[in-house]
Amino acid sequence: MMQVDTLIINIGQLLPMDNDGPVKGKRMNEVTVLENAAIGVRDGKVVWMGSMDDIQSIEATQTINANRKLVTPGLVEPHTHLVFGGSREKEMALKQQGVPYLEILKRGGGILSTVRATKNASFEDLLDKALFHLDRMAMHGITTVEAKSGYGLDRETELKQLKVAKEANEKHPLDIVSTFLGAHAIPPEYKEDPEKFLNDMADMFDEIKENQLAEFVDIFTETGVFTVEQSRRFLLKAKEKGFDVKLHADEIDPLGGTELAVELGAISGDHLAVTSDEGIKQLANSNTIAVILPGTSFYLGKDDYARAREMIDAGAAVSVSTDFNPGSSVTENLQLIMSIAALKLKLTPDEIWHAVTVNAAHAIGRGDVAGSIQVGRAADIVIWDAPNYMYIPYHYGVNHTNTVIKSGEIIYQ
Ligand code: NIG
Ligand code: FE
Repeated sequence: MMQVDTLIINIGQLLPMDNDGPVKGKRMNEVTVLENAAIGVRDGKVVWMGSMDDIQSIEATQTINANRKLVTPGLVEPHTHLVFGGSREKEMALKQQGVPYLEILKRGGGILSTVRATKNASFEDLLDKALFHLDRMAMHGITTVEAKSGYGLDRETELKQLKVAKEANEKHPLDIVSTFLGAHAIPPEYKEDPEKFLNDMADMFDEIKENQLAEFVDIFTETGVFTVEQSRRFLLKAKEKGFDVKLHADEIDPLGGTELAVELGAISGDHLAVTSDEGIKQLANSNTIAVILPGTSFYLGKDDYARAREMIDAGAAVSVSTDFNPGSSVTENLQLIMSIAALKLKLTPDEIWHAVTVNAAHAIGRGDVAGSIQVGRAADIVIWDAPNYMYIPYHYGVNHTNTVIKSGEIIYQ
């Protein structure tokens, strides 16, 4: 007799998801579906997976009946701006009048308005707010989340944001993976000397590393923000200090950030809404994961959606994410983004499930622990109110989770 704490029975469809590396190209269109399955969990880990025909050999303290529903790994959210002060609903009217995103920033609004609110917020306020958003993510089926700084743009406030993320990781059941995005915008006081600003941000690398405040360094490579040349120099310094790097690349103007991500061996290139043909080709021949953020195109009312279809067809590994932030994509609901990925990026359900589990995990260096249900791994599992995996992107705009389990504990039901 095998002893387990929890036995999940009567699983209609189980998507265990691959776990031997990022899933690229055509392989993204092949999910494995197990029917009539059951999962045994002990001490927070998956210890048994098998058919309902074999559950007589398992003795369980608690049984959860999945009632023929879909069961998948907890979703992995690889790109968020989790910690910030304030909100920007007043900018919606400007957007409706057609004022471009980068123009709002140029006028001192946008990211800079959130920077002011974040500077003014106390550590406790930022922490409470981050925990609130994490609860929302958890209820939508996310069990691991990346969180960027970037609303401080000075040493003190960037550290405050990173420390809030660290404390949130300790306090909240979700796992948080931190990224230093000090190079998110040029603060007004450095307007004439962005090089000095980047040097000052780079001066924080050692302190961030020593205190384990971030695993990745990111930069916003964009017109009016940082050039490709500046981004290269900044990220090379980060790599010298032992960080893996990421880029906000080719979001609004096609500057060649995608090519830079490949050149630097970045763990991910993010956005890629206006990536060039050459960029797609290079991406496909690289290990850099394309983290596509279609909620941003949608929310900024743009026609430019990333050519994720072509990226996969060319052989790239693609992930999708909310980009949760107060300006360009204000949602914690990754399921909604899965629908947008189907409707606007033309991804298949199989591709979308790879994008929000295994590839998302690899995009934040958690490929070996998250994004897959496997014996020996943490039991991060979602039971969905859905009969099959195609149903989630299809029925859009609502929350389909029935039960969310993180490391064997029910965190939402
Ligand atoms: O990923 N593009 C830069 N950064 C964020 C938006 C940040 C904001 O508007 O507050 C993004 O879109
Ligand atoms: Fe972002």
